[in-house]
Amino acid sequence: MKILIAYATTEGQTRKIARWVADRIFDQGHTVELAPLSELEGIKLARFDGVILAASIHLGNYQSELTEFAHRSAMRLSKQPTLFLSVSLAAAGHDAEDWGGLERTTEVFQAATGWSPDRLVHVAGAYKPSKYDMFQRFVMRRVIAQKDPDKDLSFDHEYTDWAALGAEVDSWLAALSG
Ligand SMILES: Cc1cc2nc3c(=O)[nH]c(=O)nc-3n(C[C@H](O)[C@H](O)[C@H](O)COP(=O)(O)O)c2cc1C
Repeated sequence: MKILIAYATTEGQTRKIARWVADRIFDQGHTVELAPLSELEGIKLARFDGVILAASIHLGNYQSELTEFAHRSAMRLSKQPTLFLSVSLAAAGHDAEDWGGLERTTEVFQAATGWSPDRLVHVAGAYKPSKYDMFQRFVMRRVIAQKDPDKDLSFDHEYTDWAALGAEVDSWLAALSG
């Protein structure tokens, strides 16, 4: 099968996730095209047997590249199997308020773009003080101090559960093959 994986990233974790997923699908014998969402101008989605879109949440919103692409392509995307990987720090825990926020973010996104993915997977992202400006560092230190009180806040930390992500991708692929 031929799979398109397109992503938007701000600090790099979603790119890492998209590359990891691309390798996993390629290793299972499929053809994979991997590209940033900002570089899909003119792409023919009909060439693909399935499409994976990935983006991360910042202040309750996905990157505009995702929103614009999903809005532009909603009709076409609804005609083929799709998987949406939503990357966030809220997905790194079990806080009901955090998960309520995730649900609202995805509802607003789906209403604004008209695209409802066949499958939506929330993926825990990363805390990356090495990439933040002073304000972001201040805000994110407070978020992580609350979420993960034992963490040394000076260093980057990845919360992505690679095994769980792999299982989700495999299950989506199996449904496609079936
Ligand atoms: C300024 C800023 C705002 C963020 N806002 C949210 C948010 O509203 N909800 C959330 O769950 N995660 C939030 N995050 C966490 C990111 O989603 C997480 O770090 C993710 O791994 C970023 O992915 P990227 O590196 O691909 O951009 C925020 C991170 C930063 C730096």
